Amino acid sequence: MRILRNIFEQNRQWADSIKQADPGFFSRLAKHQSPYILWIGCADSRVPANQITNLPPGDLFVHRNIANLVVHTDLNCLSVIQYAVEVLKVKHIVVCGHYGCGGVKASMEETDHGLIDNWLRHIRDVQRFHSATLIPLNPDERFDRLCELNIREQVVNVCNTTIVKKAWENGYQLTVHGWIYSISNGLLTDLDLCVTGPHEIPEH
Ligand code: CO
Repeated sequence: MRILRNIFEQNRQWADSIKQADPGFFSRLAKHQSPYILWIGCADSRVPANQITNLPPGDLFVHRNIANLVVHTDLNCLSVIQYAVEVLKVKHIVVCGHYGCGGVKASMEETDHGLIDNWLRHIRDVQRFHSATLIPLNPDERFDRLCELNIREQVVNVCNTTIVKKAWENGYQLTVHGWIYSISNGLLTDLDLCVTGPHEIPEH
């Protein structure tokens, strides 16, 4: 099928329902965006940022990739962070992972997944940093804990970007958060990793 007709139909219904509730919504948004949160999340189809936070278009600036990784040399992610902080002036950066993350799970396996194993290598590093915590756990607990620890490491990575460090040095108020989402009940949990300046960056 060349056209996903149902999607266009649903899109028209969605746009109509918003216009009915707020006739000026789209014309206002067309002029500018001023999101207050940068969301760095997993690409998993079950974790759509705006839907799970119940936020309308315009409130979240979003970057998603497999297993919500913030890699020091990933120009894509770094460009998103720079634009969000320096141009859009977001006040919060949220790294939101989720339990049951396929990327995290694959990183725990010995099987060959092809190219993606190079990306997942970053989670293998997280495993190595926290091996003392992870090894005594049973497989299910280890999986959950690695999902949480991966978020923590990515929060640290956000805080150590030149962009965030410079923002804090310049006295700009920016808070970095680590959250986890549960696919099985639809609820977000704050992992209590709130960082408001270099002094609060979690240590290994
Ligand atoms: Co995932």
